[in-house]
Amino acid sequence: MNVLLAGGAGYIGSHTCVELLNAGHDVIVADNFSNSCPEAIKRVEEITGKKVPLYEADVCKKDAVDKIFAENKIDAVIHFAGLKAVGESCEKPVMYYRNNIDSTLTLLEAMKKYGVNNFIFSSSATVYGTPKTVPLVETMPTGSPTNPYGWTKLMMEQILTDTAKANPEMSVVLLRYFNPIGAHESGRIGEDPNGIPNNLMPYITQVAAGRLPQLGVFGDDYPTHDGTGVRDYIHVVDLAKGHVKAIEYSANHKGTEVFNLGTGTGYSVLDIVKAFIKVNKIDIPYVIKPRRAGDIAECYADASKAEKILGWKAEKSLEDMCYDSWNWQSHNVNGYK
Ligand code: NAD
Ligand code: UD1
Repeated sequence: MNVLLAGGAGYIGSHTCVELLNAGHDVIVADNFSNSCPEAIKRVEEITGKKVPLYEADVCKKDAVDKIFAENKIDAVIHFAGLKAVGESCEKPVMYYRNNIDSTLTLLEAMKKYGVNNFIFSSSATVYGTPKTVPLVETMPTGSPTNPYGWTKLMMEQILTDTAKANPEMSVVLLRYFNPIGAHESGRIGEDPNGIPNNLMPYITQVAAGRLPQLGVFGDDYPTHDGTGVRDYIHVVDLAKGHVKAIEYSANHKGTEVFNLGTGTGYSVLDIVKAFIKVNKIDIPYVIKPRRAGDIAECYADASKAEKILGWKAEKSLEDMCYDSWNWQSHNVNGYK
């Protein structure tokens, strides 16, 4: 299939480009580089040996998106193009609603005009809000995300569900990601956050690289096995392969389907720190800090629906995630810069 990746130069998008190309699909990338750079796509080309048509474009802008659809025969769209920093979304909610929702609407309008009916969406486990029980199953209620970023995801799930309901030819796949970490095994592409990382693994790798002095562990008094927060960390290459399965599924299905993309296993912050130290033989100094506002104790997926329906299952281990994260960071101390 010919797949348009909106936001395809970012962390998850660039890894998905590689897996789609490896699976024999063609990709077109549109990105405004607000949180990425063209170098990521150069490296995708280097890894795969294939050319990737790349448009520098804001996918909120009708004209820019129209041009991409006019110049390419597109079978499906994967929409990664979102702003994703939770704290920033609380400070600049309008910017988050504008970018995340406008981009979705503009893509949907172009798809309607050009008769493209397959849409894969980067949603998040954040749509479940504060879970009453874990593991999280797709049928559990969504609602009450703790921040505007989460609300944009929930609103976009609704917009897409309504759009598919109104157009019986359409297939929408909502992928609820858990916590992607790791990097391509080549060490050529990986996560490259702007400024001081908010997320756990990039913070750890920057401590390991000597860019930051120590990790702050946000709370050790949660009702978990060691008191620190538990999450479902998933290798980004496994996650990327989930998109290949979702694209192939959407080609033969109509309507809206939602899938958790996680491993089904929860690890605590200290489990991650200890595994990273063991695998990479680098000490990670840490200090216990107060809980971070908005954090929950435990969040992990029931990933059985994706296995049953998509034939997809995460295969890489926690050790692989720690090894590949450090392999990327140690060979690219300043990311792509
Ligand atoms: P990322 O920031 O690395 O990638 C997003 C890409 O979209 C970036 O390259 C950015 O430049 C681009 N972009 C943003 N707005 C755009 C616009 N208007 N027009 C064109 N390009 C635009 O983030 P990621 O980690 O790869 O996440 C991809 C998607 O998955 C996002 O929608 C994010 O919310 C979602 N998600 C990520 C995680 C995670 O932990 N990384 C978890 C759940 C969901
Ligand atoms: C966060 C967002 C989520 C978003 C995801 C990817 C919140 C509440 N959730 O998930 O919506 O989809 O990022 O962008 O912000 N931790 C530390 N020290 C650190 C960083 C993190 O102890 O320096 C802990 C956290 O308290 C948490 C775990 O590590 O227990 C994972 O944190 P993080 O990587 O930020 O992901 P989430 O909070 O799960």
